[in-house]
Amino acid sequence: MPKILIIEDEAAIRRVLSKILSEESDTYQVEEAEDGLEGIEKLKSDDFGLVLCDIKMPKMDGVEVLEAVKLIKPEIPVVMISGHGDLDTAVNTMRLGAFDYISKPPDLNRLLNTVRNALDRKELVVENKRLKKKVSKKYEMIGESDGVVQIKSMIEKVAPTEARVLITGPNGTGKEIVAHWLHQKSDRSNGPLIEVNCAAIPSELIESELFGHVKGAFTSANKDRAGKFEAANSGTIFLDEVGDMSLSAQAKVLRALQENSVQRVGSDKDIKVDVRVIAATNKDLKKEIEEGRFREDLYHRLAVILIQVPALNDRREDIPLLVEHFAAKITNEQGISKKSFSSKALKLLQEYDWTGNIRELRNVVERLIILGGSEVSETDVKLFASK
Ligand SMILES: Nc1ncnc2c1ncn2[C@@H]1O[C@H](COP(=O)(O)OP(=O)(O)OP(=O)(O)O)[C@@H](O)[C@H]1O
Ligand SMILES: [Mg+2]
Repeated sequence: MPKILIIEDEAAIRRVLSKILSEESDTYQVEEAEDGLEGIEKLKSDDFGLVLCDIKMPKMDGVEVLEAVKLIKPEIPVVMISGHGDLDTAVNTMRLGAFDYISKPPDLNRLLNTVRNALDRKELVVENKRLKKKVSKKYEMIGESDGVVQIKSMIEKVAPTEARVLITGPNGTGKEIVAHWLHQKSDRSNGPLIEVNCAAIPSELIESELFGHVKGAFTSANKDRAGKFEAANSGTIFLDEVGDMSLSAQAKVLRALQENSVQRVGSDKDIKVDVRVIAATNKDLKKEIEEGRFREDLYHRLAVILIQVPALNDRREDIPLLVEHFAAKITNEQGISKKSFSSKALKLLQEYDWTGNIRELRNVVERLIILGGSEVSETDVKLFASK
């Protein structure tokens, strides 16, 4: 039953509104507050679907209440109640985010209509938010092997901290997924997650990409531009393939980590940044250090916490789950009817040498779904999954 909060200093009006909403229609639960402060307190401590708020009130007027609601619970619609003198204000509150306004004395039908519409809209907003959360289903981490369970428990512990994390593991094992989880489960999840693929950016551009540049810093720099570190402010920067970063960029990253500030290329002005760094690599950084391609001091700065994602060959018990997961996903995406895998087919897939790890497994499942029979058989696997 949706709860409605009425904030109104005139007892008579409060009573009328409350009566209409709770008696004429028994679908609503009503709470009353005599002024804005009391209203805000109630709003904080309870779940409301809607706020009805008078405009002229002592202590805190309706506009201030509206602004406070927009700050603390922006998804709750606010309907203003306007007296004779403040119709203009009422109209103006719409621009501040009020859902609608009703005039005093309240008209029964208009009131019920407005309330119904506002509650419907709220449901829509909440539903949209839920859908947005679902987008991160893209980063679902399937698996029940010790390796995956350990990674998940590590993420739970590490994500809420500010510690830097280095994620290592072979190609296609899910390092990017781990990085997304770390961000999504952190207090920075409302801030941005900025991904930089250090291997994909030419070495002469990486510094300007990470730190930005000022106009004239180099030939093509025709205006000031912020870099990824600044873009990640109050969020997380994910330095993917960090093992491929040039030594001179490494020196600059090290400096940024030490100082919590960056300098745009061509400028010596320090710009403060509040960024958590997560890095990933499929290279053996110890070896890179030995061979002089990676700075040891940077390694120690990045690898405060080390998460090693195991190769698929080391967690074969996850393969049936992963096959099922990808099969469902692929058939759903391509709008084809569901397909199952025979137990012999699954067993054979479990024995393969998965050098390309989960990414390779996904591709093989896709191929089998397209080419295999209605139930994918051992023969299908032999025919189509060989490399
Ligand atoms: N545990 C998992 N459950 C479901 N899907 C997964 C899992 N791990 C990885 N994947 C999928 O496998 C693919 C490769 O994962 P990802 O890109 O995270 O790997 P990576 O380690 O970053 O690889 P690379 O080193 O090549 O960049 C992605 O499509 C990802 O969604
Ligand atoms: Mg990756």
